[in-house]
Amino acid sequence: MTKDEFETLLVHGVYSADERSLGALTVPIYQTSTYRQGDIGILPEFDYSRSANPTRSALECQIALLEEGSAGYAFASGMAAITAIFLLFGSGDEILIPRDLYGGSYRLLDAHFKNFGLTWRIVDTTVSDGLDDEFSPNTKAILLESPTNPTLRVSDIEAVSGAAHRHGALVIVDNTFLSPYLQRPLTLGADIVVHSATKYIGGHNDVLAGLVVLRDAALAERFLMIQKSFGGVLGPFDSYLLIRGLKTLALRMDRETQNASAIARRLQKHPGVDRVFYPGLEDDSGYAINARQADGAGGLLSFELNERYSLPTFFAALEVITPAESLGSVESMACHPATMSHASLSSEMRAEMGISDRLIRLAIGIEGLSSLEDDLERALKAAKL
Ligand SMILES: Cc1ncc(COP(=O)(O)O)c(C=O)c1O
Repeated sequence: MTKDEFETLLVHGVYSADERSLGALTVPIYQTSTYRQGDIGILPEFDYSRSANPTRSALECQIALLEEGSAGYAFASGMAAITAIFLLFGSGDEILIPRDLYGGSYRLLDAHFKNFGLTWRIVDTTVSDGLDDEFSPNTKAILLESPTNPTLRVSDIEAVSGAAHRHGALVIVDNTFLSPYLQRPLTLGADIVVHSATKYIGGHNDVLAGLVVLRDAALAERFLMIQKSFGGVLGPFDSYLLIRGLKTLALRMDRETQNASAIARRLQKHPGVDRVFYPGLEDDSGYAINARQADGAGGLLSFELNERYSLPTFFAALEVITPAESLGSVESMACHPATMSHASLSSEMRAEMGISDRLIRLAIGIEGLSSLEDDLERALKAAKL
């Protein structure tokens, strides 16, 4: 799909040809749990909204087209989507995960799926040499995030997919941080894509949602049954909010990427900043691979604050950028991973993941660049000890 086709699909979705819409330009919100049935014994397209709902179906078709997969599924949160993916596996199966996997996905495996006999092992997905040796006959999947949060490490999705497929394992990519506008993992060989659509796809900090797209039609059919049985589906109104959010995905991500890239370059030169993590910087370890497999580095960056600067004062002095946990919205947000997003991990584990207590993650929004730069400059000045 060309960039133009993708951008048009974002705005028009899959709905314009649907006669149910009575010509409505936006997808109607079918706020119904059930449907009147006609001929008894003949299964209608919609019979009960846990199985299918027209608003959710429009979103599911659209995300499948955008990610270039065979079918899409919408869930009530990113974690519900990841739970549904783990339900593809069973006792005795193993999943390989990266060291800096999103904490919630790690907790789901470690605190819950482990009790059902599904095991997991941490591997370095950023190094494809030697990855073949990590697969055992029990390894059924490898789960990737590229880039990761909060240290923005990049994995070579094509190389990891090659290794996994040589061993009959599936490749699952959490594509939350780049969205299909910047990266389409299924076209790089991955089998399943998952999103916390709460982030860039929703884009406005007003909805919790998860999306899954599968490449293989037979696996997608199996997954349909999981969605129906598990039941953590996205409601009609929230489905509508994602369809609405998608319309501006390209505009938002372009602006956020431009802003983040300028801010990363500026922070690199600031005496209060020891190190900047952003795969859009030419000297970043993930730059070359990210440039090859994605159309941009996105709106997320992290930096380490020099110890001659006060971390609490830095956060307190921010006026435009909001201290908050989430990311991917039009508003810029700053997060302290050690006490916020990654607080549930031990300090040893955080150190192993490269998350120092002085690491700050910025999720850059669409505000004017100079107001963001001025805000950071002011907060850094105030924080100088
Ligand atoms: C990479 C990633 N995956 C999954 C999730 C979980 O998504 P949700 O909060 O929508 O359940 C998050 C949440 O921050 C995330 O950052």
